[in-house]
Amino acid sequence: MLFDSHAHIDDNRFDEDRAAVIARAQEAGLVGILNAGACMESSARSIALSEEHAFIYAAVGIHPHDAKEARDSDYEQLADWTRKPKVVSIGEIGLDYYYDLSPRELQQQVFIRQLDVARQCNKPVIIHDRDAHGDLMAIIKKEAKGLTGVLHCYSGSLEMAREVIKLGFYISFAGPVTFAKDGKLKEVAANVPLERLLVETDCPYLTPKPFRGRRNEPAYVKFTAEEVACVRNMEFAALAEAATINTKRLFDIG
Ligand code: NI
Repeated sequence: MLFDSHAHIDDNRFDEDRAAVIARAQEAGLVGILNAGACMESSARSIALSEEHAFIYAAVGIHPHDAKEARDSDYEQLADWTRKPKVVSIGEIGLDYYYDLSPRELQQQVFIRQLDVARQCNKPVIIHDRDAHGDLMAIIKKEAKGLTGVLHCYSGSLEMAREVIKLGFYISFAGPVTFAKDGKLKEVAANVPLERLLVETDCPYLTPKPFRGRRNEPAYVKFTAEEVACVRNMEFAALAEAATINTKRLFDIG
């Protein structure tokens, strides 16, 4: 039992073989894939995928990279989309100070406006945070009251993880937890409460060992789950089941 809580199978890197990728995910025993939107177009593609496949769910949102493209009418569109039955979250949204593809102030505004949409529509959020821990935590504390969600592809400290968990959020681990040199992340994975932990691929990016360097895909979520189980001294099946239950609880998937 496994759930890929964050994928981008609408990405054009899957255009040649998307059906095969989805079939391999099912063969690998995945019970669900949550496909995250990154811009308005990919959010629409995410919804289309969720309507074509029973085990695919959609999140809709504007990634911080695309904050500079956001228009006022987009927020209404996002809210409208959440009325569709397979749209379970607003995401991915947040801050990316590594690439800085949009001005930081604008990233913050677009993030906050989407937190408002999530609150108004009563949906959890999927949060992207790269090299922006300080501002991200400040915004979550001030602007995410009453919201729940997940810090996807978690890259912060154990201390920060404990803080966001206290605020009602979940922590999701992706491929980097399998990389040998990432001891800090393994420490987080070993210590966050089991009932607040998710696993994901973020495919086509961040391919876990042993396929690092290749294109990632949902079936590979098992390598991340295996590593998290290993650092926690747990059976793989128990970890996979807990992470799946957590994903379904967070996103209200029956
Ligand atoms: Ni992503």
